[in-house]
This record gives sequence, structure tokens and C-alpha cells, in this order.
Amino acid sequence: MEFNLQINFASMRVSALPGDSLLKILRGLGFYGVKHGCESGECGACTVLLDGRPVNACLILAAQAEGHSIQTIESIGKHPEQGWRVTEGLHAIQQAFVETGAIQCGYCTPAQVLAAKELLDRNLSPNEAEVRQVLSGILCRCTGYIKPVQAVLRAAAVMRGEQVDPVDGGESAIPVPPDWLPLGPTAGETGPFVGTRDVVTSRTQVMPQIQIAPETEGWQRVGKPERKVDAVKLVQGKPAFAADFDPRGMLIAKVLHSPIAHARIKRIDTRRARELAGVAAVLTWQDIPRVVYSTAGQSDPIPGPLDSFSLDNKVRFVGDRVAFVAAENEAIAEEALRRIDVEYEPLPTLFDPAASMGAGAPLLHDEPEFVNFADSDPSHNLAAQIRIDIGDVEQGFSEADTIFEGEYEVPKVQQAHIEPHVVITYWDEDDRLVIRSSTQVPFHTRRILAPVLGLPIKRIRVIKPRIGGGFGGKQEILIEDVAAHLTIATGRPVLYEYTREEEFIAARSRHPMHIRMKTGVKKDGTITANSMYALSDTGAYGCHALTVTGNTGHKGMALYVGDGQYRSKPNIRFYADIVYTNHPPAGAYRGYGVPQGYWAVERHMEKIVRELGLNPLEFRLKNAVRAGELHPFSTAWSEGREPRPETIETNGLVECVRQGKAAIGWDQKFENQEWHQVPGKPALRKGIGVALVMQGTAIPYLDMGAASIKMNDDGSFNLLVGATDLGTGSDTVLAQMAAEVLGVPVEDMITYSSDTDFTPFDVGAYASSTTYISGAAVARAAQIVSERIRTRAAHIFNERGDGLPVKPEEVRLADRMAALPDGRSVSLTEIAHHALHFTDQEQIMGTASYMSPVSPPPFAAQFAEVSVDVETGQVVVDKLVMAVDSGVIVNPITAAGQIEGGMTQALGYAVCEEMRYDESGNARERDLRSYHIFQAHEMPELETIFIETFEPSHPFGVKAVAEIPMDGVAPAVANAVLDACGAQIDDNPVLPEKVWRALRTIV
Ligand code: FES
Ligand code: FES
Repeated sequence: MEFNLQINFASMRVSALPGDSLLKILRGLGFYGVKHGCESGECGACTVLLDGRPVNACLILAAQAEGHSIQTIESIGKHPEQGWRVTEGLHAIQQAFVETGAIQCGYCTPAQVLAAKELLDRNLSPNEAEVRQVLSGILCRCTGYIKPVQAVLRAAAVMRGEQVDPVDGGESAIPVPPDWLPLGPTAGETGPFVGTRDVVTSRTQVMPQIQIAPETEGWQRVGKPERKVDAVKLVQGKPAFAADFDPRGMLIAKVLHSPIAHARIKRIDTRRARELAGVAAVLTWQDIPRVVYSTAGQSDPIPGPLDSFSLDNKVRFVGDRVAFVAAENEAIAEEALRRIDVEYEPLPTLFDPAASMGAGAPLLHDEPEFVNFADSDPSHNLAAQIRIDIGDVEQGFSEADTIFEGEYEVPKVQQAHIEPHVVITYWDEDDRLVIRSSTQVPFHTRRILAPVLGLPIKRIRVIKPRIGGGFGGKQEILIEDVAAHLTIATGRPVLYEYTREEEFIAARSRHPMHIRMKTGVKKDGTITANSMYALSDTGAYGCHALTVTGNTGHKGMALYVGDGQYRSKPNIRFYADIVYTNHPPAGAYRGYGVPQGYWAVERHMEKIVRELGLNPLEFRLKNAVRAGELHPFSTAWSEGREPRPETIETNGLVECVRQGKAAIGWDQKFENQEWHQVPGKPALRKGIGVALVMQGTAIPYLDMGAASIKMNDDGSFNLLVGATDLGTGSDTVLAQMAAEVLGVPVEDMITYSSDTDFTPFDVGAYASSTTYISGAAVARAAQIVSERIRTRAAHIFNERGDGLPVKPEEVRLADRMAALPDGRSVSLTEIAHHALHFTDQEQIMGTASYMSPVSPPPFAAQFAEVSVDVETGQVVVDKLVMAVDSGVIVNPITAAGQIEGGMTQALGYAVCEEMRYDESGNARERDLRSYHIFQAHEMPELETIFIETFEPSHPFGVKAVAEIPMDGVAPAVANAVLDACGAQIDDNPVLPEKVWRALRTIV
């Protein structure tokens, strides 16, 4: 059918099938600013304005939009500089999003801007609750909503004609003196609320508080709240993402997923599917080579078993792959799936991890191609096994006055990035296979897929465009092989994109674990020995099995070493069995095993504290590892490499506790009986809780990143990095580091990441490594370039002959100039021009790489304040505070965004997120309605405090920031619930029913 649509004030003739959604038609017309994350009305990414009102374009038939005015993000704002053409610049809302750092991955941003526009078009003076209400229909998994809310309020002020303070581009962050303490709560600020947040109590400040390291004094770019280098394109909804690309003749791929949890495929008949008009290929295990590999995107050799095939004659979970289809459109591909006839021979299933290891259990991996790694043992369904003893644990227990034992449970949860997994593959003009993928690991993708596809590495090019969130979920080679096999089969471009349901049934998740703790403690609170056993469910495949659970111990059990004699000789045990079951595979998820560990450790510590009548903060700090001490696990375990001793150089934990407890008002609230009561609400009890945590920064002797910097004619630079910015802001912070060395503004760095053909190698975005590892590579490359520039500057000065002879080391770079102490100077533009066009011509360029021998841990104190309804068990988290030592903060706005977003994800882990399965292994949660992630109007107050230390192993003193906010929120919330009402919740999340039941057991 054909009809007219009024899109962005222009009439367009469109042709559509009767069932085509407005979303499909708009994207088909090239309005790629309209995103999608569910296509069932839950995520809001597809928001457009219909007659000025926000609607979900996925829920409206294109034909229904006839006669209405449709407005997409493409109609709003322009880049302020477009050559000779004068533009109106960005819309005030877009400008505010850019200035406040409201954009992380940017996938939800166009929808948020349009929703905000509708609000401000009708109400130029909204309050915070109204802004949150409007944004509540658009899920954001990155930001924690603070900065988007602030952006809308700021835009409103600008549109009202008010003067607003600069929030970025200023000369400094918010410095605070070393003895600074935040004011803490004021009267009325902590007013409780139940359910959604209709009473606004949060302070949406853009800039975090920072206690600045003195070593950074005088820096021009590092440490400053620079605008994100990609913000302008993202706020305009430019086609930056993997699916915003439509090569001619592209086919749509679909996968037939197994409906049963464990079965042999006896027979598979694809004839009826192949006969369907519009079907280009149907592939089963009989059609493609049988190559065993691991889907985990990790360095070589993969630290885990090789146990996967693109397609196999056996299925091992509900959602496993059975067949691939490529067709002219989605409807045909789906019909083809329905026409594939499969006869399954059901096999016994395993859903209980403990039973999986038992004698006589059915085996999930009996294939002869299985390749062991370390202690994997498929004959006992063991994907990995860990046995670490540090010191003499039994001796330590014997020296304790009391032994505390406890058992803890953590659920399977998922990353829930709003952009689904998506890939487009095609043959280029040289018959090289191009894989355009939303991946965190482009170089690992190329290496791992080469043998699977039967291509040499040199015939594969992986392009990583903008990523719409990943959080570890895209550290998996999950869908690229599907599209690639189909491109090889058909010779045509192929798009494969997970539906939201596929994200839930077939993508990776956080490992669920059952954890046992045993801790020996002296009367004075000294820990004498600490032991953890983790039974981890990796699901059907062992991707990340060893390393995720290894980190549960490596980071989770490293913090509390004990005091006195135990500091130098701690007694720590970490054992783990990581077992196969018929659940969907777990994998990498932000925090990478560490949140599971800290749930058990910090719940357990709280019980010890309360049992012994100790102060929770003093007990923790008394036993926590300190600067100058050995990382206890550094001699015991590393991720697939030989462990080597590592001393912890910096640890700001004491200051984190001091500042964090002031911000949450600990001293006024803890053990204050009056505060626990809520006047006028007899069923409510308030509580306060804490967790201390540590993470790591990259994997020592393993993670490597590289960077190239090239000088252009005008003195600007191309910065090419293999690192992958998945919304974290890494492109920006890497540019800041290069700009600092080269003495230029960040806008002179043109950052590109990443493309295996053009950018140097990088392991990718994981293990909190990018700012540290790739940043050090950038600093080195910039140093090489700066030496070339200073040499040429000296040459120019000497050519001029207007002063004393000059040596390169006398030249300083700043403000786009090369300058001498005597006042002479030459601009970088002149230097570049001289190098490229005049004397001894050369391309000034530098490439460097970096691999770290250490993994300096960031530390944090995380606090939670809750209100518990003791009649219903409902828990409302009122406030979260995180005081964190992540070394030097390169960009306070992007780093604060990481903390806020991470705390919000962790909040879901604490109180509502959980993936459950029925007795046949069918997922109960299959959409974003049943799997609830926090919305803008449900958020508690969030507060971030950076306690800078200067990590000496890095040129800019940085440590990791991205993962640590995941670690302590859940136990801090559960400890606060305990404080509020006495309910001990040992299995995460803290659901009302569990609290209600626990309250009924308290006598
Ligand atoms: S794609 Fe329309 S609401 Fe998610
Ligand atoms: S910035 Fe909102 S989903 Fe990434």
C-alpha cells in the first residue's frame, strides 16, 4: 500500500505492508535517529512526536500515521559549524544534553530529547518530578538519569531566557581541600517516600565532589570536565550505530532457537523453508564446518574450555541455536523458521548446579572436539575449578575466638543494554569479509571467527561503530558468526539483530552462585582466616567460566586480610566449582564476578559486626588491606597467566569512608533509634548500611592496548585507537590525555575507534582497562609525536636564526604553540605545514602500545539508606552514596556518569532484577516489562564523591572506575534493611516477600 506521511514538515510518499510499524518505515526512509530496543512499547527508544505528542513508533502502524505530523530528532538542531552555511545550531535541549554530560552511549538520547521537547513546549518551568515523569517512558541503562534530568532543567532555564552557570569547559573541576567534608543531609532532605518518586528530594548536580590529587596541579586537559567528543553527533541522532546502515540487497537473518533444554537433533528438514520465495539461505549443522571454539571475547589462549560450535547436532538450553535463515525481509525469515521441521531426541536435563557435579549426572559436553583449559573436566560437567589457599587457613581458624559461617545466594541477571546485539556482514570489493558489529572486542572477534569461517585473519575486517551499551554483554562473539555464515552462503550483505526476547533467552548474563563463607575472628575484631566456596552456574557453555568466578575470589576476598600479624601473612581460601547446566550460558557482565563475591562478603561481615557488637566501619577498616601491602591474590591466581607479586601502591579507602559517611549522615543516623522511626508512618522503619569494595584495573601481563597519533596540516591530530567506547566516554578521556601531552584543546583531537584495518590492536573494552591501559598507550604515542614536534620546532627556530640556537628539549607545547622560555614561539599549524610541505618533509606520527605488569585496585565505600514497610516488606532505597578512589579522575563528568549508571544497575541487582526459569528451563522473563530496570521517576538520590590518589604506575595516575560501582550497592542495601528492621536477607535480590517472611521469623 502507498500513502503520504508528513515527516519533519515535509510530505513523503511511502510504500508499506499493512502490518509495517511507523518505526520500520521511518528507519527504512533513513531516519536512523529513531532507535529501537524492544519493539513492544517498553523501552521508549523509538519515541517520535506525533502531532507534537511523544509516541512509541514501534506500536503505531505506519498507515495510522497518515494525516498526522511526525517529528523525529532529525528535525531538531544542526551542527553549529557547517562551513559557509549559517545554521541555527543545536536546540537548547540538545545543547544542555551535551553540556551536562547527559549522553553516555547515546542510544536513548534522541528519544529523551524529543520527550523533553514536548514537555518544554507546553511547560517551560517544570519541576524535577515532572521532568522525571516525562523521561520515565524512556529506559536508559547507562546514566542513572541524573544528568538527563539536569539537562532538561537547564534547557528550560535557557529557554526562559535565564543565565545559567557553565558546567563544562571551565578551568577546573570542583576542588575541595584535603580536610573537606560534605555538609551531609539537612533537615527534611531525607523525607521518605514509598513507591515511585513523586516527592522530589534528589539533588541533581552535574559535577561530583572531588578531592583532587596535588600531582595534577597545572594540567590543562586531564582532570577537566571536557565535553564528550561524540556528544554532538549523538544528540542529533546521526547514523552512528551498527544498524544505521543499509547496504543494497541486504538480507535479514533469523535464528531458530531450541524449544527444549537438552536434546540430540535426530532429524532436521529444511526443504519447505528453502522453497519459500524470498528465502536466500537456510543453514543447519550439516551445512557448515564443525569448528570448536569459545564465544568468550578474550585474549589468546582463551582462558576457558573450547566447547561451542556455530551450529551443533545437540542443543543444551532453551534458546540454543538450531538453524540460521537469511531472507529478503523479516516476515519471510520468520515464516521460514516456522517451516523448519526438527525432530529432537530429548536428553536428561540438569538445572541444579550441585547435582551437575554428582556421580552419574548426564553429560552436557560429550563431543570429542572439546578442548580442556586448566581444570575443566567435562566428565563431571565442570567448566572450571579453582582451589586457592593463601597462608594457613586452618591454622588461622584455630587462632580465632569465634568462627562465623553463612550461606549466600546471588541470581542470574542480565546486562539489558538498550541497543540489542546487532551485526551486518558483507563482502567488500576485494572479497574481504566486513563485519560491522556492536562489539566490545573487535580484534578478538576477528581472531576467534577466522577459523570458524574458514578465512584467514587478513581477509576479515571488523568495524566497530558506535555501541549502544554493552556492560560486558558485547564481550561475547555471540551473533557475528550467524551473519557471516549467511553472507558466505549467499554472497549478500546480512543483518542479524537480536529481538529483546532473544536477548533474554539466548544472550549472556551474570553467573548465579551459591556461596559459603567461613570466617575466624578474634574478640577484638581481628580476622584470622577467611574462606569462600562458590558454586557457580555457567549454564550450557563455559564462556568466561573460569575468569568470572576467579574474580569473585580474586577481588571479593582480597579486601579483608586481617589486622596485626595477619596483614603480612593473611589466611585466605577461595575454592570454586563452575559447572555446566542446561540454563542459558552466563558470561561477562560489568563487575565480572565481583558483585557476587561482595554480596556474600559484605553480608557476612555485617553479621560478624552485629554479633560481636563492633562498629561496622571500624571493623572493616581495621581488617582491610592497605597501601604498601601485597595484593594477597597476586601470588596465587591470575586470569590465565602466571601470578606475580604486586604491591598495592594507593588506597584511599579511609578517606572514602570518612567522606562517604559524612555525605550519608552516618554519625547522625546509625544507632539513632529516633531516626529509625518515621513520624506519621508507623509501619515504616529507616535503616542505613555500608559495604566496602575493591576491584582491579585491567589484567596484568595480558591486557594490551595501542594507539596511533597523526598530525594534520592545520596542527590538529587524528587519534586512532583500537579501544572501544561503549558509552563510557573512553574516546573522550583518551583524547584528553593526548591533548594534555600535545598542548592542544580536546577539539583538536579527532578520535576514531575502532576498525581492525586502520586502528592498532587493543584487547577491547573490558576489565576496567581502557583509561588505564589504552590511556597509557595514548600518552606514549603522544609523547613520541611531541618529540617530533619539538625537534621540528627547534629546526624552525634555528632556521629563523633570530636568537640563540635551540635544542628540542627546551621547547614546551601549550595552547597550540611550541614555545621557548625566551618568549619565541611557533604555532603547531606552522610546524605541521613545515613538516608536510617544506623542509625534510615527513608525516609526524607516533604509535605506541602498553601492557601493564600490575592491576592497581580502585577502592570504594558504598552507603545506602532505605525505608522498609514492616507490614508489607516493601523496601524503598532513599539514597545511595559512593565515595571512590579511582586514582586521578580524567573527566569528572564522564566518570561521575559511570558511577551513577553503575550504581543504578547495581540497585536493580539489589532489589528487583532476576532471571528465573521453570522446571523445563524456559525463561520466565522475556521482555523489559517482566524484567524491570529502574526508570527515571523511581530513582533514589545518588551522590558520588571522588577521592583522588595518584597511582604511580600510570602517567596520569589513573585507576579504574567503570565496574566498581556495581560491587557494593546490593550488600549495602541489604545491610540497611537489616539495620531498619532486623530482617536478614541472604539471597539477593531483596524482594518484599523475602523481607516479609524474614520479619515473620524474628522473635
Ligand atoms: S522499540 Fe518501541 S518502545 Fe522499545
Ligand atoms: S545513554 Fe541511555 S541507554 Fe545509553
